[in-house]
Amino acid sequence: MFVAKVLSGMRPTGRLHLGHHHGVLANWVRLQHDYPCLFFVADWHALTTAYDEPGTIEQNARDMVIDWLAAGVDPERATLFVQSRVPEHAELHLLLSMMTPLSWLERVPTYKDQQEKLLHKDLTTYGFLGYPLLQAADILIYRADRVPVGEDQVPHLEFAREIARRFNFLYGQTGRRRPDGEPELKTILVEPAALLTAAAKMPGLDGQKMSKSYGNTIALREDEASVRKKIRTMQTDPQRVRRTDPGDPDLCPVWQFHQIYASEEVKAWVQQGCRSAGIGCVECKQPVIEGVLREQAPMHERARRYEEEPRLVQDIIAAGCARARQLAQETMRDVRAALGLGRS
Ligand code: TRP
Ligand code: SF4
Repeated sequence: MFVAKVLSGMRPTGRLHLGHHHGVLANWVRLQHDYPCLFFVADWHALTTAYDEPGTIEQNARDMVIDWLAAGVDPERATLFVQSRVPEHAELHLLLSMMTPLSWLERVPTYKDQQEKLLHKDLTTYGFLGYPLLQAADILIYRADRVPVGEDQVPHLEFAREIARRFNFLYGQTGRRRPDGEPELKTILVEPAALLTAAAKMPGLDGQKMSKSYGNTIALREDEASVRKKIRTMQTDPQRVRRTDPGDPDLCPVWQFHQIYASEEVKAWVQQGCRSAGIGCVECKQPVIEGVLREQAPMHERARRYEEEPRLVQDIIAAGCARARQLAQETMRDVRAALGLGRS
């Protein structure tokens, strides 16, 4: 039976927050029950933009993997590894670069977008231009069929599909023709499909999307006192100045949290109590605090062993890297052979 393989990667940006949990990790945790999954730390990708501040990558990677484990990613089910420890990614990237038209890279939307966004940094580099090709190599080297990504990554996936097609067309011809007259091709590299995550938009403490760059996050493993304080001091409906002023939940970031954490009854209580000034904001925030803490409790629980014994994380990563490397080497054997580089 054919079972699709899932692969996804994340840049090591340090400690993850609840936005990562709702947007990405909860989905990984679901997927690991249905598919063989590979999840990796995209540390080389981090260098494409952070080439001038490489010192933090390793620590960030370790913290991030602990967050994955805390969120419920199960190393018995999924293969967890670090990109730079499977150097075959670099070899495939190099070989693919020989047949990648520059124009394909230049028209990937993130190329110009990111350069315009990160104006303080010189991103007119070879590595940054090649970023989507490195990502294509990450995916194609595992012959992954499904890649869970957010909306912003869809053009990268399309690019990876085009690269796979071009590779198979150039190097996979059997010499025979299909009934429609087109050349028959071997599938050396598999075209991956995007698994679009219906991203539950996690609001930040200020009502904007939760994001480190907005400074509005709650960390996945944030300690209890700090969670309480952050939510207690969260903005509410700005019109509601005094306790006796009625408010409008639609103008309040706390209400967005209720939509994630509250039951129907609590939501009705908020709507009614806010609009009639029947409840105060401090009261209203209480179930949000409890909801966040309840969600984090099993995460703290799972993370504890790994925080106490870093060796466990190192072992998980080492085992994952070994497994990933084996898969990558299988593909590379076929790729080299297709290019007439008969190293085996
Ligand atoms: N580009 C992705 C990001 O910034 C990370 C990434 C690198 C990735 N390689 C990948 C994601 C391969 C999926 C598959 O989020
Ligand atoms: Fe926001 Fe709740 Fe206060 Fe209404 S009562 S303004 S929903 S915190």
